Amino acid sequence: MIQDLWYKNSIIYSLDLETFMDLNGDGVGDFEGLTRRLDYLHALGVDTIWLAPFQPSPNQDNGYDIKDYYGVDQRHGSSGNFVEFMHQANRRGIKVIIDLVINHTSDEHPWFQDARSSPDAKHRHWYVWSDKKPSDSDEGMVFPGVQESTWTYDKKAKAYYFHRFFKFQPDLNMDNDEVREEAKRIMGYWLQLGVAGFRVDAVPFILETPAPGAAQPQMKFEYLKEFRKFLQWRKGDAILLGEANVLPEETQKYFGENGDGIQMMFNFYVNQHVFYTLATADTESLIKALEATRNTLPTAQWANFLRNHDELDIDRLPEEQRQKVFDRFGPEEHMQIYERGIRRRLSTMLGNRAQSELAYSLMFSLPGTPVIRYGDEIGMGDDLSLKERDAVRTPMQWSDDPQAGFSESAKLVHPVVDKGPYAYQHINVESQKRNPDSLLNWMTSLIRLRKECPEIGWGEWKILQTGVPQVLGIMYTWQGSSLVILHNFDEKAHEVILKIDQKHDNKLVDLLQDYKSMAENDGTHRVTMDAYGYRWFRASDLSHMLHRGHK
Ligand code: NOJ
Repeated sequence: MIQDLWYKNSIIYSLDLETFMDLNGDGVGDFEGLTRRLDYLHALGVDTIWLAPFQPSPNQDNGYDIKDYYGVDQRHGSSGNFVEFMHQANRRGIKVIIDLVINHTSDEHPWFQDARSSPDAKHRHWYVWSDKKPSDSDEGMVFPGVQESTWTYDKKAKAYYFHRFFKFQPDLNMDNDEVREEAKRIMGYWLQLGVAGFRVDAVPFILETPAPGAAQPQMKFEYLKEFRKFLQWRKGDAILLGEANVLPEETQKYFGENGDGIQMMFNFYVNQHVFYTLATADTESLIKALEATRNTLPTAQWANFLRNHDELDIDRLPEEQRQKVFDRFGPEEHMQIYERGIRRRLSTMLGNRAQSELAYSLMFSLPGTPVIRYGDEIGMGDDLSLKERDAVRTPMQWSDDPQAGFSESAKLVHPVVDKGPYAYQHINVESQKRNPDSLLNWMTSLIRLRKECPEIGWGEWKILQTGVPQVLGIMYTWQGSSLVILHNFDEKAHEVILKIDQKHDNKLVDLLQDYKSMAENDGTHRVTMDAYGYRWFRASDLSHMLHRGHK
C-alpha cells in the first residue's frame, strides 16, 4: 500500500539540540528543553523531527565529529532524557530521525586512538592510511579555504591518514567488513531506542574507496543495499535519508535500480535551481531540474528544503547562473563561503514576506517531502559575525525575554541575534503566536494544507503549460483526485490560461481563498496571479463519487 510509505507525506523539522531550548540553564540546549517544546512542534503540524548529532563529541564540527556512537553528550542530558524525549514524541505521533555519521569519527574516538598507536593495533585498518604523502593530498577538500589537505601525517602512527572533511575527522575504512558491521550495530542500537530512521551524512564519501593518488575513487553502492537490508530487517518502515549532492544521472544508483538502496535523498539539485528561479523569475531551468530528477521508483522520495544547517551550496549551477544567485542573495564576500555557497538564512536573503511565502509555498508543493529548518517558521535571521556556517546556527528565538527565552545562562553556545530587524526582540515565537497575520501562523496553515494534499507525496505529477515563463504550474493526480498549483516568481502580476485535462469536473476550487474557477467553453481556465503570488487548486476530487460505486 502506497499509504504505508509514511515518509512521502510527512513534514520534517530539522533542529540541533544545542540551539533549540536550554532547560537546565547551562547555555546549551538539551533533551529536557526539546521535550518541553514538543507541543509547539505538534501544534505547528510537524510529524517528523530530524535531530542533528547529539552523541559525545569534542564538537569541533557542530557534533559531526563523534567520539562515542552509543551515548548522549552530557551537555544535552543523559540517555534517560533521550528515552523520555522519544516517549513523549511518539505519544504525539511525532517520529524521530537522527543523523548517522559513519563516514568519519572524531580523532578523539577510542578507535582512532587505538588505530594510530601501532600498525598492528586492532583498529588500525578501521581507518585509511598511507606511508608516503599521496600526490593528491591537497585535492578534494570539502571545505576549501579552511581545510588544507585530505591526507594528514600523524606522528604517533608514523603514517598519513585520509580525511575527506577536517583533519580532526579521520575517514573510516568502509571496505573493512568490521567497520560495516559496526555501522549496522549503531543503526540497530538507535532503532531499538525507537528512531524512525537516519539522515545519512556524506553518503558519496561513505561509498568511495580512497586510494592514494587515484584520480577517480571507486564507488561501492552495494554498501547502501547492505545497510538498507539490515534496516528493513530490524524495522520494516524505517528509512534512510541520504545527504548526497550529486548530479541527476547519479541518483538512481543511490535509490537502487530496484528501489533497494536508500528511500530518500535531499534534492540538492532542485534546491539550487529554486534559488536561481527566485533570483531571476526564470522557471525554465527549474522545470528542467525537476524533470531531470523525476523519480520512477514507487518507494523513492525526494526531501525538499530551502535552507539547512550548512551553506546554501550553488556549485552545481552553471557559472552564469551561479553568479546571478550570488549577486541577488550573497553579493558581499563575507556572505559567501567555501568558494561555492552562501552562509545566510532564508529571510535575510529574500528580504521580504511575499517572496518568503512564495518560496515556502513552492517548496511544500514540489514533488517530495518538505523539510523545514528550525527558526525559518518565524523568519529568523543570521549573524554574519560568527565563524563560517555558525552564522545560521544561532539560538531559537522563543520570546523577547533575555537570551530570546532560549536559556537563563549569561553565556550561550552561540549568541542570540539581538540587533537589527531580525533581533529576538522583534522576531520570536511568543509574539507571532498572538498575531494572526504572522509568518508562524501562515506556516501553520501551509503545513495543514500540505497534509490535506496527499496527491503531492503519493501521486503522479506533470508540468503545466502556463504560457508565462515566470509562472510555474504543476498538476498532481492520485486516486482520482488532483491538484493544480501555480507560482508566479515575477514582481508583476500575470494572467495565465490553463488547459487542464479534467475528466469529471469543470471547476478549480481554490484551497486558500473563497474562489472557484469555472472552465470556459473551450475548456480553459483563466487565472490571475498576483506579484509573487501562489495558488493551490483542487481540480477534481472523486471521493464523493467513489462511495457511489463510480471508478
Ligand atoms: C555534512 C554535514 O551536513 C556538515 O555539517 C558536516 O560538516 C559534514 N557533513 C561532515 O560531517
